[in-house]
This record gives sequence, C-alpha cells and structure tokens, in this order.
Amino acid sequence: MRKVILDVDTGVDDALAIAYATASPEVELLGVTTTYGMAPAECSARNTLLVLEQLKCDVPVFRGAEQPLIRTRQYSGTFHGTDGLGNVVRSEPKRAASGMHAVDFIIEQVRKHGRDLTLVTTAPLTNLALAIQKAPDIVGRIGRVVTMGGAVATPGNVTKFAEANIIIDPHAAQKVFSSELPITLVGLDVTRKTVLRQEEVERWREKNTPCSTFFADFTKYYIQAYKVNHPYLKGCALHDPLAVGIAVHPELVNMVPMYIEVDLEEDALGRTTEDLRRKSPGGPNTNVCMEVDAERFVSRFLSRIDQAFSR
Ligand code: BDR
Ligand code: CA
Repeated sequence: MRKVILDVDTGVDDALAIAYATASPEVELLGVTTTYGMAPAECSARNTLLVLEQLKCDVPVFRGAEQPLIRTRQYSGTFHGTDGLGNVVRSEPKRAASGMHAVDFIIEQVRKHGRDLTLVTTAPLTNLALAIQKAPDIVGRIGRVVTMGGAVATPGNVTKFAEANIIIDPHAAQKVFSSELPITLVGLDVTRKTVLRQEEVERWREKNTPCSTFFADFTKYYIQAYKVNHPYLKGCALHDPLAVGIAVHPELVNMVPMYIEVDLEEDALGRTTEDLRRKSPGGPNTNVCMEVDAERFVSRFLSRIDQAFSR
C-alpha cells in the first residue's frame, strides 16, 4: 500500500480522481489538500468535502493557497461550471476542513513518511511551491510527486502551448520543476488519450444511488462542455484520474526522463518543454509520460468507480 496525499482543485475530474483513489486498494489516502483553480478556493474545499461525504470516506481535508504566487487569474467556468461541479451542488457538507493549512500538512507528512509518501497533484502547483519554499528539506525526502499538468509534445488546452494547471500559476510550476523533486509528469500528452464516454455515465445514473447520481450529474456537464469544445474526443478526458492511476500503476505508461522548463515569457506563458541545458549528477528529475495504455486504464477506472459507488 502506498501512502498518498491528493492535492486538488475539485473540479469534475478531480472528483473522479478522488473517487478512484478511495476505491484503490493500493492507496492509503492520508488526506486531501485543496486549492483554487477550476473554481475559487472556497468552492473547491466545499466540493472536496461533499464528494468525500457521498463516497462515505472521512479522510481529512486541508485548505491551502487561495491565489497564485504572483499573477491574478480569471476563472471562466467553461468546463467545470462556476462552482467547479457543473453547477449541480445544492447542499453544504456536514463536515468542515481541518484547521491546519494544506502546506503545513504536506510538510508534516513528508517529514513523517519520507520515501513512503507520494503526493499526487491535480491542480495548480501553488501548495507544493509554498511547501518547498517553507521547508526545502522535503525535496530530498519525499518518495514521489505525480503531477497532472503540462503539455510537452502536444498542444495546450488553454493557449496553444499551455495546459490549465501550469498556466494558472506558472511561477509555482517553475519553482517546482526547477527543484530536484522526483516528479512524474502526467500531461496532456497522455491524459487526452484516456476518454470517458457519456454511455458510461448513464450507467452510473441507472445505479440510482445518491452518490452515483451526484457524479452522473456533474460529469454530464463536463462531457457536454467537451462536446462543444473538443467534439473529436467523443467524451471527456480523464486528466486527474490518470494521475492517480499512474501513481499506483506506472506500468500503464512509457516515460522519458527530462528536465522540464516552464516558460514565463508572456508569448509562451506556461509552456512546458525539455530543458536541454540543465545538468545534475543524478540525471533528469522528471519522468514525462509520453504513451499510455488507455484501454487498460479506462477499464480499471470504470470498475473501481463502480466499487466506489457501491459502498
Ligand atoms: C486540468 O485542468 C482542469 O480542467 C482539470 O481538473 C485538470 O486538472 C486539465 O488541464
Ligand atoms: Ca484539477
């Protein structure tokens, strides 16, 4: 079993990633840390608590950064709705987030578990950047960081170069990738190939439990947005669930070791490319996922989501 912290901005596919993690026997979920991103920080913390409540999972939730390190940002709501969950949320969670800050929780857990800990991030990298700024020692202690973000050899999804989680806080991403953290980068190169279709979501609706109906409602919104913006995909990309999948089943992907550089110039802001000039004795610190066995991943994802809904 792998000790895991999920750092999320819940977000439809973050919610799917949380469900997948809670139904994965390989994962011991220590906590979920939240930040702003696909919705304001307030919404993403509330959504995380609501999703965990529906999944009957009481792992602690820790609120973190509420804005990027430097730039301010506009949130469009196109893919996830203005509340992050397809504008379907009608209630408040019964439970509150912990009083501890997400950044302090990450630091505490890395110091406690060291190599046994994997941090999976599916959000802008602000919490992690603040954690390494506050406690640089965690860089050499943590087992692995698996990050959904970036687009190395494929176009972006916000600009022609940049992926959402990177461009929302490019300075945080630059800090993270220029550190010596051991990173697995799960970017659009692979996540766009793992697709969830509406037919599967209809099966969740037929299950007719409060949890499966909630998930079916907000995922329908997301698939509808994909239909308008990326009709060729015939469904929605499972960006964030794939990061959880790779954390426990790295054999699903082919990875290439690289140093990653994050562009901060305005005309290529948030672009993630290989930095050929950087050198270090241990070699490149980032494994970039370039190919994925999408069929195997999606079928495992679907069967685990079924289990998550049957609790
Ligand atoms: C990333 O941005 C958000 O839309 C998703 O939740 C995912 O983390 C994909 O670019
Ligand atoms: Ca996300």
